[in-house]
Amino acid sequence: MLINNWYVLALSDEVGTEPLGVHALDQDFVLFRDEQGQVRCLSDICVHKGGSLCRGKVVDGTVQCPYHGWRYNGAGECVLIPSLGPDGKIPKRARVDAYPTDERWGWIWVFLGDLPEAERPPLPDFFPEYEAQDGEWRFNRGKAQFQCNWVRAIENGVDRTHAVFVHTDFGNPERTVAAPYEVVDEEHRLYCIGAGKPLNKRGTWRDAIPDQRDERETEVQIYVPAPSIRIQMHMQPPKSQIIVTAYTPINEGLTQLTFIQARNFMTDEKYDEDARKRVFLVLGEDAAVLDHLQPARVPPLLSDELLLDSDKHGVMFRKRVKAREAAGDAIDTRAIRNEDDYARVIPSPARSRDPKNWVLRPVPMRPGDDADQ
Ligand code: FES
Ligand SMILES: [Fe+2]
Repeated sequence: MLINNWYVLALSDEVGTEPLGVHALDQDFVLFRDEQGQVRCLSDICVHKGGSLCRGKVVDGTVQCPYHGWRYNGAGECVLIPSLGPDGKIPKRARVDAYPTDERWGWIWVFLGDLPEAERPPLPDFFPEYEAQDGEWRFNRGKAQFQCNWVRAIENGVDRTHAVFVHTDFGNPERTVAAPYEVVDEEHRLYCIGAGKPLNKRGTWRDAIPDQRDERETEVQIYVPAPSIRIQMHMQPPKSQIIVTAYTPINEGLTQLTFIQARNFMTDEKYDEDARKRVFLVLGEDAAVLDHLQPARVPPLLSDELLLDSDKHGVMFRKRVKAREAAGDAIDTRAIRNEDDYARVIPSPARSRDPKNWVLRPVPMRPGDDADQ
């Protein structure tokens, strides 16, 4: 699992003035809104005696630990220790890690890592249809989990040859041969367009999407530093469906998927339930496979599997992840398992500004390729 990425930790409407506990990268976080309504994300572990902040309360824009009432502001600084009295001096080390947050597309994105602002990658900008909210598009949202590593889940999201074997709604079983395709390799994005002869739609969508269509294009892009995928199916231009998914590792073997499905046909609310069911049908079909992959993590070398040219889009993403691991961004989860005497935290940007005076140890990182140099 990588630090220094943006991850979706919640839906906007899940975060209010009650603290919300979230588990991601196998660590615990607390989310809450401060007095200005801005979402804040802190490490969930109180540095006094390990209280779980999400089980406390939000008071005056701070989160109050349920154990002895220490209060932490949105920057993670302790601003009140009741036992010290009003004039007590709060120690400098009375602080927890605080992570940058942003809200986009009704999702709470959190930057889990210690890069200073100038070095952080931007959030993805590949969903202008959502930002426009002009009534042309209708949106559905939801969540699911896969019992596999997040890289496995993303590779599945762009795996073009599984569709005919797994998906009953759009994989055409008479067209198993994959056409060659190219992937555009950009700094933050891996993008490709494929074409195929689609299946006839079932159910109500058949009223909008006629049978006997010709080749139709599908655009697929992975956004790397905020792990997410946009897939646009040009079903009967200009009618299309867009599915944007974000992938958050809960731990090495469990992945949270958050989705928004957009359609620009049958936009009446009465068709929402049917549209949602279609997404959950696809996700259920994927889970039936992904929940049983071995190993649940991506194996160490590409040669540990027999990958084909048609797997290239996912493989390019896998290589990006390997490069980040080599650069020292991967949490050493085995080291954490072997040594569980201490609570650990994902290092936050304040640690790179001010490395001293922290109580909790950062998670150990896997050595990068240049660790010995
Ligand atoms: S453990 Fe949090 S205030 Fe004591
Ligand atoms: Fe799938």
